[in-house]
Amino acid sequence: MRLSLRFLVPLLIALAIAAYATVPLIDAQILRWFSRDLDVRANLISNTVQEPVSELLLTGNRLRLEQFFGRLTSDERLYAVGVCATDGERPFATRDFPDELDCAALRNLVDAPGALLRPPRGLLHVAVRSIEDAGPRALLALVHDMTFAERRSEETKRYMVVFFVALSAVVALITVVIAQLSWRGWITGLRALIRGEGLLRPAGGFVVPELAPIARDVRQLVRDLEAHYRPRDGDQMVWTQQTLRDVLKGELHGNDVIVVSNREPYIHVRGPDGIHVQRPASGLVTALEPVMRACSGTWIAHGSGSADRETVDRNDHVAVPPNDPAYRIRRIWLTPDEESGYYSGFANEGLWPLCHIAHVRPTFRSSDFEYYRRVNQKFAEAVVAESQRDDPIVLIQDYHFALLPRMVRKMLPKATIITFWHIPWPNPEAFAICPWRNELLDGMLGSSILGFHTQFHCNNFLDTVDRTLEARVDRETMIVVRDGRPTQVRRYPISIEWPPAALEGQPEVPEARRSIRARIGVPADHKIVVGIDRLDYTKGILERFSAVARLLEIEPKWAGNFTFVQIAAPTRGMIGDYRDYALRVKALAHEINTHYPRAKYPPIVLLAEHHESDAVYEYLRGADACFVSSLHDGMNLVAKEFIAARDDEHGVLILSQFAGASRELPEALIVNPYDADQCAAALHLALSMPADEQRARMRLMRALVRDFNVYRWAGRMLMDAAVMRQRNRLAPSTEAPDTIHAR
Ligand code: F6P
Repeated sequence: MRLSLRFLVPLLIALAIAAYATVPLIDAQILRWFSRDLDVRANLISNTVQEPVSELLLTGNRLRLEQFFGRLTSDERLYAVGVCATDGERPFATRDFPDELDCAALRNLVDAPGALLRPPRGLLHVAVRSIEDAGPRALLALVHDMTFAERRSEETKRYMVVFFVALSAVVALITVVIAQLSWRGWITGLRALIRGEGLLRPAGGFVVPELAPIARDVRQLVRDLEAHYRPRDGDQMVWTQQTLRDVLKGELHGNDVIVVSNREPYIHVRGPDGIHVQRPASGLVTALEPVMRACSGTWIAHGSGSADRETVDRNDHVAVPPNDPAYRIRRIWLTPDEESGYYSGFANEGLWPLCHIAHVRPTFRSSDFEYYRRVNQKFAEAVVAESQRDDPIVLIQDYHFALLPRMVRKMLPKATIITFWHIPWPNPEAFAICPWRNELLDGMLGSSILGFHTQFHCNNFLDTVDRTLEARVDRETMIVVRDGRPTQVRRYPISIEWPPAALEGQPEVPEARRSIRARIGVPADHKIVVGIDRLDYTKGILERFSAVARLLEIEPKWAGNFTFVQIAAPTRGMIGDYRDYALRVKALAHEINTHYPRAKYPPIVLLAEHHESDAVYEYLRGADACFVSSLHDGMNLVAKEFIAARDDEHGVLILSQFAGASRELPEALIVNPYDADQCAAALHLALSMPADEQRARMRLMRALVRDFNVYRWAGRMLMDAAVMRQRNRLAPSTEAPDTIHAR
């Protein structure tokens, strides 16, 4: 459009100037033509009437002369006629003869081309001819009405304007079409040039010879841009849903993204009043869902809801979000044995405790691993089935799919596979106890890019590969090369969308404060600290309760004036360790509450049930503080959600030093969850912190979560993938795809 305007505006200006200059010229020319016609006409009339007029003049018969003139002027063009026989002042003339023309003036015009007069009644043409037979001084003046010439001139001007406008439109249309065609041709040529596609014949030599001289320069430019890309990405870009869309559209040419995770973002559940949709309590889903809304594409996940099968089409697809579809879920069905062996067994009784230092022993069963392998294969086949092309972008999520990257790589060698490990990566000694460590590491090294939340986890992974596998580990570039194929290991701290969708429609903070206090039955000025977790032993819920108990010992004034509200979503109930943990959490809450029978309000309120995100955000907004006490956590997004929820810039975050989030949020009160005294002191500090200090801390944390949001997390991975794809295209054909040149 802008391009077209660039052509059109000068063109239209030129045409307007041409029209402006031409119209007066045409006007003058038309008058000249009509004047000349009237001269000829005047000669004709004069020659014809010479005889009768001279006779009438000589006989002096004025009455007959008047009648004769009357007949002459019945011609509609001949406006007036007059004669001068002598040099008298006034000519003998018809009634309309112009007053300003006396005989002396007429004499100056004798036998000359007609003169133009513009009296108030309109343009007149005056031609004067001598009447020699009536005497040497006799003359005949013929006055023609020339207003018809003016009318013609006006009509001609109108036609000219219409003509120029039509001409402009036609010329503009042709110009725009030609400009667009040639622009597209150039753009296509340049794009092909940049991609290196269609430029070189297999046998060498250029397919598009005109572009050959600039091919080298353009490639150099691409390399220079790539070199500048990384710093711009990290430090300067403002990431929003739109930026992420632009990255996909621009850098990845709008390729569809395929996401793979175990947990699905929308679960259809059958209840007493029909089917309803549930959002799972999952950090992974919280982070990825807005990304998928921005990118569209397909999300492959286990269909675990009781009504999931009833809500898919015949290809097992369902469009989501249900009220405003932006992408689709492809559901994978698992048998109860598969679910139990792959999900509960190997993933959650084996890898989960292996990677988290939470002092729960991992359990490894070969039958579980067999199911894990089988389910990974099932998902790999679904990736191939969902892929529209041979080089899709596949985002594999988490510890449920360590074998999947290698499986996809075998079936789609040109795929760009980004694997993100959402949980911590242990040190090599801890990982070494896994009987299938080699298979797992080899599977993960099928990825093009492998992401962790923190540099510490990246380093642990490189150490583990170095100790376990035959592979070249380059610690400077963070690249592992296995069988000649590289995997880039990078840190991508995950985050949440900004602003979170769940904030929409939330009541103001004072209203949220009133409402959550009324719900748990405490007064309006009662202090509330909140904890939001799955009922998982890594979350440190028991340690949190112990800290509450310790606070009431150290600072008894808080008994009855403060309540800790724990929202704990039931999770992984088929695993013994989780069932035990849930029982222990309930027992400890009960024990602490019964220890303070005289306190008016209980120290702990435990809500061990699923809460939708609207309800969670209301608690986060209405509380005085939020306590995240994970014993070990990849990132922990509840900490970031609390910050995002507090647009009033109040509230205090108490955060475990063992959650990845503590690396990014030093303004929180950072605690060791195993140290009950320290945690109790942090609770006391949080409950008594002045508003100014709360605001100062919260502002800094909000700025960080706003800038380092989930679009940046996904965008940086996708930009790295785009750079990798570009390099692969430019690399000589002898190099394997995915090869990354050291920066
Ligand atoms: O962090 C690991 C993770 O997969 C998270 O994405 C999520 O918070 C949690 O575990 C979900 O667990 P599950 O899917 O087993 O309920």
